[in-house]
Amino acid sequence: MSTDFDATELIRLKRGGGQFSSEQISWLINGYTDGKIAEEQMSALAMAIYFQGMDDTELGLWTAAMIATGERLDFSSLSRPTADKHSTGGVGDKITLPLAPLVAACGVAVPQLSGRGLGHTGGTLDKLESIPGWRASLSNDEMLRQLEEVGAVICAAGSGLAPADKKLYALRDVTGTVESIPLIASSIMSKKIAEGTSALVLDVKVGAGAFMDTEEKARELASRMVQLGTEAGLNTVALLTSMDTPLGLTAGNALEVRESVEVLAGGGPTDVVELTIALAREMLQQAGIDADPRAALANGAAMDVWKRMIRAQGGDPNAPLPTARHTDQVLAESDGVITRMDAMAVGVAAWRLGAGRARKEDPVQAGAGVEMHVKPGDRIGKGQAVLTLHTNTPDSFSRARAALGGGIEIADQPVERRDLIIDRIS
Ligand code: URA
Repeated sequence: MSTDFDATELIRLKRGGGQFSSEQISWLINGYTDGKIAEEQMSALAMAIYFQGMDDTELGLWTAAMIATGERLDFSSLSRPTADKHSTGGVGDKITLPLAPLVAACGVAVPQLSGRGLGHTGGTLDKLESIPGWRASLSNDEMLRQLEEVGAVICAAGSGLAPADKKLYALRDVTGTVESIPLIASSIMSKKIAEGTSALVLDVKVGAGAFMDTEEKARELASRMVQLGTEAGLNTVALLTSMDTPLGLTAGNALEVRESVEVLAGGGPTDVVELTIALAREMLQQAGIDADPRAALANGAAMDVWKRMIRAQGGDPNAPLPTARHTDQVLAESDGVITRMDAMAVGVAAWRLGAGRARKEDPVQAGAGVEMHVKPGDRIGKGQAVLTLHTNTPDSFSRARAALGGGIEIADQPVERRDLIIDRIS
C-alpha cells in the first residue's frame, strides 16, 4: 500500500533544499499523473526544483518513477542492435533526417521517436510532413515491422511513453521551469529509456540558439543524462556541439528536407555532413558495429534506406517539395567577412515567417523559412544576398527582418569561432 504524504510539506521540503525519499518521489509523480496533486502544487514544486536542484539519487528515482507511469517498448526481437540519437534542439538541426537512414544502412536499427517544433526550434516531424503523403503516426507493431524491414523509422512518440512527462512538460512550459537541468535530464531520459533502444547518443547543444547558453551548463546536463542512461543499462554517450550559428544553410521544414537529401546524395553543407558523420560513428560504436558511415553516404546505401523509409510511411521521396509563394532577400550593408549569424535570430525569423508554431495546435507552413547564402567566415560584398526569406504570408517579412536585427555582423577581419564539436562525454 502506498504511503500518503502532504504535497505542501513536500514543496516546503524542497524549497528549503531537502532531499526526497523514493516513496515521496513515487507518490508525487503518480499523484500528479493521476490528477490527485493539483497543477498549482506541481508548479510550485517544479520552481522549488528549479532553484534547489536534485541530487543524483533523487534524479534516478524521479526518472524511474516517470518511466513507470507508462509503457516500455521492447526491440529485443529485432535481428540487429538498436541505437537512437537525441538532440536538445537547435536552429537548422535537420541531422536526424540523414542520420537515421545512414546508421540503418550500416546495420543498426534506428527507432527515432520525434516531436513537433515549438517556438524557434523546428520539429523533425514538421520537416518530414512537408514530403507529400508522409505520415508521422505508426502503431507499435508497424514501427517494429519497419525497423526489421527497412532499418529506420522516424515517427511520433505515442502517448503511452512516460505520460507523466507529457503533463509535467506542458506545465513547465507555462511556469518558467523548463530550463532546470534535472527536469530536462529526467524528461528526455524517461522517454528514451521507455522507448527501449539499447544505445543512445545525445547531441547537447551549447550557444545562442540552445536551451543551455553556456558550456558549463551544457556539460552538466550532458553528464547527468549520460549517468541516467548508463545506470538504466543503455550504452550512452553525449557530444557537446555548438549552436551559436544555425546548422547548414537552411532553417524551415521543406528547405531542411531538401538540404538533408543533398547530404544523402553525397553533397550538402560541410557542418551538416561533419555532425552527421560524427553522430553516426558514435551510434555505431555504442551499438558495437564496425562500419564506415562515409562509405554508406558515398555509395548511395543511405539514400536507398531514406527512400524506403519515406515510402514505408506513405511518402513519395521523388515528389517535388512545397515551396513558399513569396521570397525576399536580405542584402549585405557593407563589404567584409561574416563574423556572426546568430542562431536564435535566424530561428525566430524562420518561426515568424511561418515555419514554426507559437501554440501546439497551430499549423506550420511547409515552404516557409530562411535560406542562408553565407556563413560565418565567408566574405561578402556590399549589396550581395546574405539570406533569402521564404513565406506564404508576405506581411511577416517585416517581423522576420526585425528578429534578425543585430543578429548578423560583417567586419573587416574574421573572428575566432567555437569548434562545431566541442567535447565528448561518456
Ligand atoms: N526536451 C524534452 O523532451 N524535455 C525537456 O525538458 C526539454 C527538452
